[in-house]
Amino acid sequence: MSAVGLGCNNFGRAGTPTETPTGTRDVLDAAIDAGVTFVDTADIYGRSFGLSETLMGEALEGRRDRVVLATKFGHADFAPAIAGGSKGSRAHIRRAVEDSLRRLRTDWIDLYQLHTPDPETPIDETLDALADLVREGKVRYIGHSNFSGWQIAEADAAASGVRFVSAQNQYSLLARAAEREVLPAARRFGLGFLPFFPLHNGLLTGKFTREGGPDDSRIMRQRPHLWRDAPWDALERYQDFCDARGISMLEATFGWFLANPLVSSVIAGATSAAQVRANAAAATAWSPSAADIAELDGILSLPADPAAG
Ligand SMILES: NC(=O)c1ccc[n+]([C@@H]2O[C@H](COP(=O)([O-])OP(=O)(O)OC[C@H]3O[C@@H](n4cnc5c(N)ncnc54)[C@H](OP(=O)(O)O)[C@@H]3O)[C@@H](O)[C@H]2O)c1
Repeated sequence: MSAVGLGCNNFGRAGTPTETPTGTRDVLDAAIDAGVTFVDTADIYGRSFGLSETLMGEALEGRRDRVVLATKFGHADFAPAIAGGSKGSRAHIRRAVEDSLRRLRTDWIDLYQLHTPDPETPIDETLDALADLVREGKVRYIGHSNFSGWQIAEADAAASGVRFVSAQNQYSLLARAAEREVLPAARRFGLGFLPFFPLHNGLLTGKFTREGGPDDSRIMRQRPHLWRDAPWDALERYQDFCDARGISMLEATFGWFLANPLVSSVIAGATSAAQVRANAAAATAWSPSAADIAELDGILSLPADPAAG
């Protein structure tokens, strides 16, 4: 698994260069050339269900073995219900994996992840169904996403034989809630951690200021509130921190992630070949000292827990 991964929820995303087969192929070519070989998609990604996987399958034709391929199934809000019920059920998993394998044009998925917890299906059933896929060779490893600390512990206690190996949750310098329960649970139960939205949708690349950002960016086109409501005083202190060390914000952001031994791969999304190349290069540009990490904690710290007394 490469330390820098490629998040693929841009594949097939409306209004991006990666909406098309050509744009997708350009990004994937650049990723593989730069050594970014861990790719993370999901059945729900793309402007229509399955499109990201379909574009991935086309772009991987003839070179499937060059990447470690992760995908996801069973998003509670977006995945269509499949006959058989809940998204973590045996029936849903069986159907979902066959559909993903067909769209991805492959015989196996390296990491198959439950996209969101399923409150209706006992985790034992989900684990059992996934273990069958591992035994059949359709899936190599299994992971989960958006689990809380207690759900990670519950899944570990329920497993016998095939176990979840990874947790994927939102985590970045601007979204640090995973530090409370999820990262400690991942450490305790030996899971690799995959931070999603690692660049906070692009806000942590350095291309935005209090005054604005590129019109063609996802943030300005689709999620302007992320820019409008950003903690600009802290982000400006972060930019000063980078300037004082002669590094870019992108380099500092990747360096911060990769100094954390729990982080298996930084699955940053990209809409162009140049972005993937920049992300791969950023990963080796800067290694923070313990003092640097402490200073960053002071600038962009975890907010106080409102539940704490
Ligand atoms: N498990 C889950 O529930 C879940 C949820 C969300 C995401 N994910 C996963 O996490 C992955 C990453 O999340 P994400 O792609 O949404 O967000 P992200 O990695 O935080 O941000 C990616 C965006 O930042 C911009 N960018 C990336 N590299 C750049 C560079 N070098 N210079 C300038 N801009 C750059 C691009 O957007 P623009 O070009 O548009 O500015 C890119 O689409 C997803 O692809 C997906 O695999 C998982």
